[in-house]
Amino acid sequence: MTKRTPFRRAAVPLLAATFTIATLSSARAATPQELLADYAAQAGTAASAPRGEALFTQRHGQEWSCATCHGAPPTQTRRHASTGKPIGALAPAFNAERFTDSAKVEKWFRRNCNDVIGRECSAGEKADVIAWLLTIKH
Ligand code: HEC
Repeated sequence: MTKRTPFRRAAVPLLAATFTIATLSSARAATPQELLADYAAQAGTAASAPRGEALFTQRHGQEWSCATCHGAPPTQTRRHASTGKPIGALAPAFNAERFTDSAKVEKWFRRNCNDVIGRECSAGEKADVIAWLLTIKH
């Protein structure tokens, strides 16, 4: 029995560390459906795909719409309106990486809504955009 003790002592912190890493990384991973549900819950209203489409395709008093860089429907790789860098399709059915990392989604909603609307998007607007993007199928 006593011979096992050193192994156990090492194993417990190792397991704890593994668990912590797994928990931290899974907190960021998500599906588009989960992110949509989170934003709709924060907003306290159901998401609307037609409202999301309008937000995405219309200009809001600035030079660009969301569609300027992402296209409408956003199903193809496009070039950034000013830098020319490629931007992969935004609709999840055409790009499995989209809306799977909540930190990335938050970062780009913040930046792009500020550029296009001149302010951050509300949780309800984010839910609307994701709801519309999820209606876009092959
Ligand atoms: C000036 C160009 C430009 C405009 C305009 C723009 N975007 Fe983007 N968007 C980008 C770039 C660049 C990225 C990051 C590169 C990439 O992910 O392909 C990105 C990424 C995103 C992402 C990250 C999604 C993910 O999970 O990968 C979201 C969400 C997004 N944009 C939403 C919007 C919305 C909503 C609007 C309009 C309010 C908008 N964008 C307008 C350039 C733009």
